[in-house]
Amino acid sequence: MQARAHPGRLAVAAVRALAPYVPGKPASALEREFGMREVAKLASNENPYGPSPRSLEAMRASLEQIWLYPDGESHDLKQSLAGHLSVEPEQLTLGNGSNDLLVLLAEAFLTPAHSAVYSQYGFAIYRIVTQATGARCIEVPALPRSAAMPLGHDLVAMRNAIDADTRVVFIANPNNPTGTWAPPAGVKALLERAPPTTLVLLDEAYLEYGRERGTQDGLAWLREHPNLVIVRTFSKAYGLAGARVGYAVSHPEVADVLNRLRPAFNVNSVAQAGAIAALADQRHMREAVGATLQELRRVEAALQRLGLWCAPSACNFVLVRIGTQAGEVYERLLRVGLIVRPLGSYGLDEYLRVSIGLPQQNDRLLRELPALLR
Ligand SMILES: Cc1ncc(COP(=O)(O)O)c(C=O)c1O
Repeated sequence: MQARAHPGRLAVAAVRALAPYVPGKPASALEREFGMREVAKLASNENPYGPSPRSLEAMRASLEQIWLYPDGESHDLKQSLAGHLSVEPEQLTLGNGSNDLLVLLAEAFLTPAHSAVYSQYGFAIYRIVTQATGARCIEVPALPRSAAMPLGHDLVAMRNAIDADTRVVFIANPNNPTGTWAPPAGVKALLERAPPTTLVLLDEAYLEYGRERGTQDGLAWLREHPNLVIVRTFSKAYGLAGARVGYAVSHPEVADVLNRLRPAFNVNSVAQAGAIAALADQRHMREAVGATLQELRRVEAALQRLGLWCAPSACNFVLVRIGTQAGEVYERLLRVGLIVRPLGSYGLDEYLRVSIGLPQQNDRLLRELPALLR
């Protein structure tokens, strides 16, 4: 290799400037590093109850035909989704996880001449996909910790931040990593004020967990607001994070644009089969969500008894304020086989995000934590 060759520098400036997304540490990494067994990963908001047994069966059966390319149109999955959501198949775009759809949306609608609005502490991918296109990032300060929805999106400020060149506003409802949610009236008001030249991206990755808290899904607003794009995933409530399948519901013209841009086979055949069967077993999904929410309340109450502040959560995780030693507590938890998520990359250095696991994993966390806080 030439000593002075720097082929990486040939990449476009916006991409070279990216700070990559920091995912949760995989359990296998901790097992390797510390020779540990029985690692509990509470770091990536996965659903520990897993997918419906029917979904697993469908995915196993699909392997028989793994030598074939998948259906590039995902026809059957689109039909199932269209029926389930009462929308037209033409309104749907499928993605390799909903992350894929966020990338496609940015690529299709943002250029260096445009801007995108998102909230401080909003899901990190919004900044990354915006920066990658060279568009201007408008990060709106989150609500203060004293607000009714501490650290949540300030929807009024986000609305006011929309410029003539703003093409996308990203709203996560509920939001990761805060767990906070947006009141329906606030989202509706933003939709009403957003100019028709601005797309409003409503990310509903945690929708199923939020229903109990009164979060409202955006489907009902689609008819009136052709600039609304809703993005959802099978990774969370449906327990299919490893399969990678998400979808967008939008005006058919937006779906047409996203479908032109998307790689032809972006949703693999195993994922398509798994998602169709998962959708058909709503009962399994609801039971998993119910069990997680029950555990969430138990974990929140126990953390509060330790004197720790928790952000209100409508998700399958809780954001907990540990204080200045959050980084050390994260490391100490690793050493006892518990992986949670440090949030320095969000500027939330004093916090940790704890995904809700199985009851015995949560018990383990609650047993270990008090001694590690000292
Ligand atoms: C708010 C939010 N949106 C989207 C995603 C992307 O999920 P996936 O690509 O697995 O569908 C996540 C993942 O954690 C998330 O938290």
